[in-house]
Amino acid sequence: MADSSILFQPLKVGNISVRNRIAMAPCTRQRAHLDGTPTELMIEYYRQRAGAGLIISEGISPAAGGNGYLFAPGLYTDSHQKGWHRIAEAVHAAGGAIFGQLMHVGRLSDPLVLPHGTNPVSASAVRPDPLARHYTVNCPRPKRVYGTPRELSIEEIGTVVGEFADCARRARDAGLDGVELHAASGYLPMQFLSTNSNRRTDRYGGSAENRARFVLEVVEAMQAATSPGFVAVKVSPGWTFHDVFDDDPVETYSVLARALSERQIAYLEVGNYGQPWDVHAVLRPLFAGPMIGVAGFTRSKAIAAIAAHRVDMVAFGQAYIANPDLAERYRDDLPINQPDSSTFYTQGAEGYTDYPTYEAAEADQLLPVDSAFATGSSRSSQAGKLQPVN
Ligand SMILES: Cc1cc2nc3c(=O)[nH]c(=O)nc-3n(C[C@H](O)[C@H](O)[C@H](O)COP(=O)(O)O)c2cc1C
Repeated sequence: MADSSILFQPLKVGNISVRNRIAMAPCTRQRAHLDGTPTELMIEYYRQRAGAGLIISEGISPAAGGNGYLFAPGLYTDSHQKGWHRIAEAVHAAGGAIFGQLMHVGRLSDPLVLPHGTNPVSASAVRPDPLARHYTVNCPRPKRVYGTPRELSIEEIGTVVGEFADCARRARDAGLDGVELHAASGYLPMQFLSTNSNRRTDRYGGSAENRARFVLEVVEAMQAATSPGFVAVKVSPGWTFHDVFDDDPVETYSVLARALSERQIAYLEVGNYGQPWDVHAVLRPLFAGPMIGVAGFTRSKAIAAIAAHRVDMVAFGQAYIANPDLAERYRDDLPINQPDSSTFYTQGAEGYTDYPTYEAAEADQLLPVDSAFATGSSRSSQAGKLQPVN
């Protein structure tokens, strides 16, 4: 087995130094209160996983208009902010670090979870294919037939950008170590980036530079409200999840990566969900800061990718859901628990805070340390073995 010491080199990430190269990937778990305030259970869940060099939180809505899921958290009220403050305190007390992922779902929302009388918004009034969202049989969330979103006016874009900035300020005041803009997985920023969902003819549509403008304005506004190193971005270049398609993803994400590099963001998280090109190899030379790889990594793949300088850090999703002590297990080359997808989005402690540590686990329940879990859900690459992924 490969030596894990390379995973335990410290790394400067934005304004902080992290103690290892193992990140907890952002994972929506829907355990917040209905109003978006974090629960006691969430504090415990993140505290348990503080052995990660960096926790990237589940998607957090930056504004009421960005909500997409019941029981997903927000960070736009005092009550939300107090809850995140307690999570940040618990993670820091356990020696960890945490960025909050800011997720505005745009056209993937529903009037049922939005403020009364409002409809989902997007870059353009383009309805996502109702079948674009795939679920495992076990997943408790129903398939959703999306409506046609309302196109944001230029003035409303300014309002949304301002909401992200206010939210970043709240994140800083709550004691989080940074924020990550969720510009992946077909959510609002990616609806602006992608050619099939962005049909605008103003300065936010058309060329790659124009389609990247929304993301860059959000990043700049959040940096101005906090500091350059407080802000990170996640992308999934060319991934078609949630019915976003790009005529030329290499061009779009090359433009974006260069622009983010100039803005000296904390890190760029790059997801490879089975896209047919090597997203890390293409973006790496264009982005000067730390790059975090995500999706489909195992312990040995992470060691190899960092050793080859393909990425600086690796984020683990399903493995972290199931293993609160994942970093320690990877350090010592110990077997891991199996994630249970039937409890990914349910309520309560089951499948959330009750996964055992290695010491407490039953030997016959453990899997080899390098076990891989199915990931990704684009129709083209994963049909038939789909996992829910936000
Ligand atoms: C239950 C679940 C919820 C997720 N929620 C989010 C999310 O809120 N934001 C995000 O960027 N990715 C989300 N993802 C994707 C993960 O961050 C990660 O990219 C994915 O699980 C692939 O990594 P893995 O192979 O290590 O599991 C989610 C994945 C799962 C399994």
